[in-house]
Amino acid sequence: MRTTWILLACCLASTGCPSGEVDGDDPPDNPDDDDTTDDELPPSFPVTVRVTRDGAPLPDVSVLQGGGQIQGTTDADGTFVATIDSTVEGELWVIASLRDHRSQAERIREADGETVELELKTVEVDNPDYTYATPGGEQHKTTEYCSHCHFRFAEQFAGSAHRGAASNPEVHDLYAGTASAFGGAEACEAAGGRWASGTLPGGGAGERCYVAAGFLPDSLPGCGDADQPPCDADPAGLPGGRCADCHAPAVNGPAGGGWSLLNVEGIAFDEGVHCDFCHKVRDVDMDAAPGVAGRLVLGRPQEPDGGASEFVPVMYGPYFDVPNVYMGGSPAPHFRDATICGGCHQYEQEGLWEAAAAAIDADRWPSGTLPIHSTIAEWNASPSWSGVGCQYCHMPAMDVPNSADLDLFEGTSPGVAGGFERPYGEVRDHSFYGPLNVLPADGMRLIETAAALTPEVAWIAAADSASGAAELTVDSRVTNVGAGHALPTGEPLRSVVLVVHATCQDEPLTLLQGPTITEVGGRFADGVVGDGVESGDRGAGPGSALDWEDVDALVGEAPENLVVRVVRPTGGWVDYDGIGPFGDGTFDAAAKGLPEVTAVGEAAVVAIDGTGLELATPLDLLPGDRVYVVEPSGGLQDGAPARALAGAPGVDFARVLVGLDGRRGAPHYGAVDVARDNRIASGAGAEQIHRFALPEGCDEASVSASLLYRRAPLSLARERGWTNVEVMAAAWETTVTPD
Ligand code: HEC
Ligand code: HEC
Ligand code: HEC
Ligand code: HEC
Ligand code: HEC
Repeated sequence: MRTTWILLACCLASTGCPSGEVDGDDPPDNPDDDDTTDDELPPSFPVTVRVTRDGAPLPDVSVLQGGGQIQGTTDADGTFVATIDSTVEGELWVIASLRDHRSQAERIREADGETVELELKTVEVDNPDYTYATPGGEQHKTTEYCSHCHFRFAEQFAGSAHRGAASNPEVHDLYAGTASAFGGAEACEAAGGRWASGTLPGGGAGERCYVAAGFLPDSLPGCGDADQPPCDADPAGLPGGRCADCHAPAVNGPAGGGWSLLNVEGIAFDEGVHCDFCHKVRDVDMDAAPGVAGRLVLGRPQEPDGGASEFVPVMYGPYFDVPNVYMGGSPAPHFRDATICGGCHQYEQEGLWEAAAAAIDADRWPSGTLPIHSTIAEWNASPSWSGVGCQYCHMPAMDVPNSADLDLFEGTSPGVAGGFERPYGEVRDHSFYGPLNVLPADGMRLIETAAALTPEVAWIAAADSASGAAELTVDSRVTNVGAGHALPTGEPLRSVVLVVHATCQDEPLTLLQGPTITEVGGRFADGVVGDGVESGDRGAGPGSALDWEDVDALVGEAPENLVVRVVRPTGGWVDYDGIGPFGDGTFDAAAKGLPEVTAVGEAAVVAIDGTGLELATPLDLLPGDRVYVVEPSGGLQDGAPARALAGAPGVDFARVLVGLDGRRGAPHYGAVDVARDNRIASGAGAEQIHRFALPEGCDEASVSASLLYRRAPLSLARERGWTNVEVMAAAWETTVTPD
């Protein structure tokens, strides 16, 4: 029966198995395979199980019927009396299962009262000589590939971010200081980069575009200068910066981690955080460093196997009843909750270089580390989701009978070979849905389930307003209703930007009061009046031009797409509800690092030259005012190129890191401080009120609120040529008239 099933599996996947011949390894003999039926059994009967290890009775072993619930554990004599339900579909098996042991089973064919003897063996050592198996993707032919039997999981995994974790060009760009999108000397030099020969991700040497900062150039002082080979020219001995410990954990050999991302090859590179890696995680030690070097305790098998595999397989997983010889299933509780995810999705970073370590302010960060990824801590603090694993949202339940595609293999009945039938909820989707992935259940991208956006708009007649002129107020609330952690979470490159836009007769209304978007929302240039930017008077008088040599990089841009927005710091700080020390009372408003500003104004750009900008309307500037060259904030669209929106009415939510040079917006590896973290906690909301002036004669205003999700800062994306489009997480619009 086993052989038939293997044949079915390989031919069903239709990669051309010749009939009658298995294009793969012969399965080891299974002594329990014959055609005896379970017909004449009582519906329910007892079976005594006696479990031993090294011949001695083993207590506390879970006993269950294959496909059923745990019935109890063995006593001091190693025995337990299980109840077999013979009415279930498929084969009847009794199973003994214990952490750090492979589950063992015996098929039950008769209710003869005989004791079933099961011997368990410990499998808790890690074997560096083990070679990781391949997920398989389109390869279904042989049992070497997981996809041979876990066809659906392999397909789902193939499109996941986990699969790309080691080969992701954006990760390599930040590691080596490259811009992989500029794939030729001309494009590279036009982007200000250097086209030179270095080490290619995945192995080998070749030319690529070196543009700027990266972990390697920043951590190897002096290397990569214009007259030097790139920092990665000699891959031997490159510092790892821990990137590979999380991004490329599945390197064969000792589990010590510390690899350079450029030394990762083969399936460790191609398949990233893959099946056989996760399912070799025997334990998770949250006190150790993240990733494979510490937290993820591996248990690769070591007993030589005379058969198909080099070593007798072991597969750590959520089930207690997978004694299949190809699997050697071993139950591990960390698969049932957030624990295994915590191996990589929680990262407190020490300064990665001496100078960075020394620059971390010990009063502000007593642990000496900065919170870089805190998804697990955020989830732990979630009032509604901390009891629900990451799996609930990122690995949703699948409506299939079991995890080995039993339903696809006609004529196979549930049992050890094909797996047991499982209740709904026991088989979880392996797509690892990220914010941009479409969920199968509702056809929405995950990010669209994150936030509720609920603005209230009021038209205040001149007689009722404080200013004595007609006003529009927009009170908008963003609530994190759908994420089990902060919005946004994960990589500090991410941000979420709320844009509030109000117009009358297509003209933007003037903001009287309310928060404006910071530089996190993107700008082509920014400067401070009196410190590089001066108000000039080339056109219609003072303030209608800006003398500002820093904008010469913008010469050649179409001025009609640009606007200048100006904000004025009040000297105060916004006391927002943030994450960790930014929300739990540890930091006061000033330490939370979000300066309070008021909007000064906005003017369209008419012309740009090497000495400054000419504006369509004058701006009333004071020294200290912050000036942004940005883009209009109306008509935002999902999928359109991301716009520079600093200074516009709205709020940006982000964890903002500070680099050694004191600048905000540093990538995580170079961080020495977290300037602010006003991301929205799970279940929490952020409310903001904007007051706009209604021009005289206006009898209908339009208001829109857009919540944008951004994967990377605009300036970084531009510098590296990364795809960068607006992702509308939520949107809302209305028109208002006086009552
Ligand atoms: C990032 C780690 C990770 C990767 C990669 C991964 N798994 Fe899993 N796998 C899990 C977790 C967690 C569960 C438990 C889900 C649950 O039941 O809550 C699981 C469960 C399973 C199960 C039991 C059925 C189930 O849904 O619970 C099987 C079978 C399985 N995985 C096979 C695979 C295969 C095959 C691949 C590659 C195609 C793979 N896994 C990749 C983490 C991973
Ligand atoms: C020859 C078929 C076959 C191949 C090949 C195979 N599996 Fe399985 N696997 C099964 C069956 C059958 C089950 C039980 C399914 C069930 O009962 O839901 C299973 C269950 C599992 C489980 C659950 C174990 C537990 O105790 O929770 C994991 C994890 C798993 N497989 C991972 C993998 C990975 C990773 C690969 C590739 C390296 C792989 N499998 C290749 C047949 C196979
Ligand atoms: C071995 C380390 C590791 C483990 C364990 C791990 N992840 Fe990840 N995960 C990563 C890395 C690295 C990335 C980023 C990959 C990339 O985009 O380059 C990632 C990406 C993701 C993403 C995609 C985010 C996006 O932007 O699309 C989700 C969702 C995710 N992980 C969820 C989980 C869940 C849930 C678990 C536990 C079942 C888990 N991860 C376990 C390392 C890990
Ligand atoms: C209640 C559903 C839910 C739970 C539970 C949940 N998430 Fe998420 N996750 C989301 C949503 C919605 C998003 C998109 C919004 C966001 O980024 O916060 C997301 C985004 C992510 C991202 C991608 C961030 C990015 O922008 O690239 C990662 C990584 C992630 N989650 C990991 C986890 C981990 C790890 C856990 C468990 C500790 C977890 N999630 C629990 C719903 C959930
Ligand atoms: C503690 C584990 C860990 C370490 C160490 C780590 N990362 Fe990550 N990285 C992740 C996880 C998890 C994600 C996905 C989170 C998300 O999607 O928000 C990620 C995401 C990223 C992304 C975003 C990818 C994308 O497609 O948007 C980049 C870029 C990145 N990492 C670069 C690096 C570099 C470079 C290093 C080393 C200097 C590094 N990471 C070290 C865990 C880690």
